[in-house]
Amino acid sequence: MIQKHYSLKENNTFGLEVFAKYFSAFRNADELKHLLNTFPNEKLLILGGGSNVLFTEDFNGLVLKNDIKGISVKEENEEYVIIESGAGEIWHEFVLYCIDNKYAGIENLSLIPGSVGASPMQNIGAYGVEIKDVFHALTAFHIASGEIHTFSHTDCEFGYRESVFKNKCKGQYVILSVQFKLSKNPTINVSYGAIQDVLQEKGIKNPGIKDVSDAVIEIRRSKLPDPVEIGNAGSFFKNPVVSEELAQQILNAYPDAPNYPAPNGSRKLAAGWLIEKAGWKGKRIEDYGVHVKQALVLVNYGTATGDQIAQLADQIIHSIQEKFGVTLEKEVNFY
Ligand code: FAD
Ligand code: EPU
Repeated sequence: MIQKHYSLKENNTFGLEVFAKYFSAFRNADELKHLLNTFPNEKLLILGGGSNVLFTEDFNGLVLKNDIKGISVKEENEEYVIIESGAGEIWHEFVLYCIDNKYAGIENLSLIPGSVGASPMQNIGAYGVEIKDVFHALTAFHIASGEIHTFSHTDCEFGYRESVFKNKCKGQYVILSVQFKLSKNPTINVSYGAIQDVLQEKGIKNPGIKDVSDAVIEIRRSKLPDPVEIGNAGSFFKNPVVSEELAQQILNAYPDAPNYPAPNGSRKLAAGWLIEKAGWKGKRIEDYGVHVKQALVLVNYGTATGDQIAQLADQIIHSIQEKFGVTLEKEVNFY
């Protein structure tokens, strides 16, 4: 069913009250094709869970929600399984399904909001794992030709919060299904952040994938706002990758600045730390602001507009540039 002047409030985790000129959902490639043929000249937005988007105004075009369901095993042996999920499955439910079936590899990515289909878009990552570590292949509908193309790992050109779909193929494809290669002999990855501490507190010495998932869920709940209670889209900015020289300058002034090795001798800094040091953490203006527990997360307390949040983001970028000489890049997609 095609809806006109449709409120997207329930379809974006910032909880912004904006309207789509037309809105519909699709359950397979044929329905998608039909909808695209019905509205050949409308501006198009494919939406999953709306957990990485910021609407700065009404969407004057066609919003199509991906509702392609279904999970199936494509190949299996004693060591691994290749499992395929429809793009419209909810990511965290897919993670739990894999854990229940003892397929390992995505437990560190527990509780990330959104759909399976969006996971390769920005190569979702958390707690030491990125989708690229387990990605096998995907199928995508090529909007211009109506053909279905398969993308291998190499084709996706994954990087830190990057893929070919955010770059040279931007706006050209609708992801229909994603295949992951998961292990039946898990290598537990508890090196990141507080996972080990949480497991220790619980007295778990030999954790399984369910234990890791539970620990990640506990940590995430303790610091990230639940979009059901406070509107947000997770990290608003990427962690900046800077030259060794700039990192060293910052470390000379602030020896405690978190920093991590990055490709080609550069360093990755923690944007949340920079934003906190610049005095933004917990700052609230009217009904929007910077989260109290995680400075990388911008929030809508109820009645904010996307424009207000976008302006706050620009002020933060300016302030971090002035104070540290570091350019923050937005992670959230603007519409
Ligand atoms: P949407 O927001 O609906 O879409 C995002 C972009 O992908 C849009 O440009 C959209 O057009 C496009 N898109 C979506 N589906 C398709 C498709 N099938 N085909 C083509 N294009 C498509 N991200 C992380 O990486 N790590 C985290 O730890 C993390 N934590 C978060 C915590 C919170 C509380 C929130 C709210 C968000 C967090 N995020 C995190 C961001 C978000 O969860 C991910 O980016 C997620 O993959 C977005 O999925 P979605 O279905 O909601 O995408
Ligand atoms: N920090 C601060 N102040 C803050 C926030 C963080 O000083 O307000 C410091 C922390 O103390 C820590 C460092 O910054 O030393 C990193 O913080 P954290 O481990 O919380 O992770 P992050 O770098 O802020 C990234 C991802 C998250 C992901 C977590 C866990 C990006 C842009 N964000 O956040 O992803 O869940 O690591 O792996 O890479 C998302 O993409 O939406 C997202 C939430």
